[in-house]
Amino acid sequence: MKTPRTIVVGITGGIAAYKAVNVVRAFVLNGDSVHVVATTAALRFVGKPTLEAISRNPVHTDLYEGVAEVRHVSIGQGADLIVVAPATANTIAKLAAGLADDLLGNTILASTAPLVIAPAMHTEMWNNPATVANVAVLRSRGITVVGPGIGRLTGTDSGAGRMEEPETIVAVALAVLDRQPSAGEAAASAVQDLAGRHVLISAGGTREPLDPVRFLGNRSSGKQGVALAQAALARGATVTLVAANLEVAVPTSVTTVLVSSALEMHEAMTLAAETAEVIIMAAAVADYRPKTVQLGKIKKEDVGDTLTLELVKNPDILAALSAARRPGQQIIGFAAETETDADRLLVLGRDKIIRKGCDYLVVNRVGHASGETVGFGTERNAVTVLDRHGVIVNEVSGSKMSVANCILDVIG
Ligand code: CTP
Repeated sequence: MKTPRTIVVGITGGIAAYKAVNVVRAFVLNGDSVHVVATTAALRFVGKPTLEAISRNPVHTDLYEGVAEVRHVSIGQGADLIVVAPATANTIAKLAAGLADDLLGNTILASTAPLVIAPAMHTEMWNNPATVANVAVLRSRGITVVGPGIGRLTGTDSGAGRMEEPETIVAVALAVLDRQPSAGEAAASAVQDLAGRHVLISAGGTREPLDPVRFLGNRSSGKQGVALAQAALARGATVTLVAANLEVAVPTSVTTVLVSSALEMHEAMTLAAETAEVIIMAAAVADYRPKTVQLGKIKKEDVGDTLTLELVKNPDILAALSAARRPGQQIIGFAAETETDADRLLVLGRDKIIRKGCDYLVVNRVGHASGETVGFGTERNAVTVLDRHGVIVNEVSGSKMSVANCILDVIG
């Protein structure tokens, strides 16, 4: 059984405070011990009893309560992670200045735990040079900023400033926590090792149209690609996701380009690759597509008992991106294989990295094994990462998030 970690959730006074309840709930369901520190303004948006019931702990607000137990520093000292969601423009400014005029400010200043903030405010406030400068200061200190997303705001307007969805905040926060160096290892700022880098990821499975209602597809859900996007965000990267028919939600702070077929993915990846420093081809791309796409629905009476499809080869996106690689650009491919023998799997992987010309290849067994589907659509994954010489540089089996971090670890 895992040891519960202590997570302090700071809630500040914005309308998105009501969504913080789901952040608290997700940490509790994950088995962590959650302590809420809310500002008085936050409690105008969400009730203390709700937060106490969901967090299963008293909610702290007042700097002058529990003075005998030195609460203004003890909460922060006992935290393994602090998450501030929502973080208003005012809170961000106070954090940047190191102010401690309330319990949350004291808690954060007294803590050495990693800090994750989820800004929420109107677009004009987010774009204000003061906020831009404050956020830059926080990032430079190794603080993880999740979001904000772009979308509908409190009023009738929409734009950048909407708090990132709770599930993404939690996924990014847990990724930050899981990556904390143990005692004696490097400083906490090491978790931001992708800060300022543009990471381009493809995810999902392409669909090759046959007619207006049918396609040839595959079983990829996109979970591994989205976990890579979340992990890269948590490590400070700017992330673009080229997403083909995903079954999972994408963090709104990721720039998402929706595609469906291999040809569309090829075009989108080629364009985004122009500015990307790291490219990860996690998508399952159809090798072939129907030679002709029927304009109307294919009818049984026109076809008869046997339907023969003529397929033509799709471009190999990974090989093309590798061939056009700019100096310094790193390219990671995946190898989805059904081979069950570990040695033969490695041989296939080594052949594939040579054919594709990428820097690293993530070898991943997929398919059905004793009635169980592995790799595609599942919550867990097992991969071996090879370098261009076919040498194993990393190996992991676990949640798709831990696999994602293991893959990102190889990027120099
Ligand atoms: N890939 C690609 N374009 C294609 C096919 C695959 O970019 N037309 C990429 C995948 O995203 C993955 C890698 O190539 O990163 C390997 O995909 P995989 O399906 O394992 O290999 P294939 O090239 O399709 O070879 P085969 O199916 O013969 O094993």
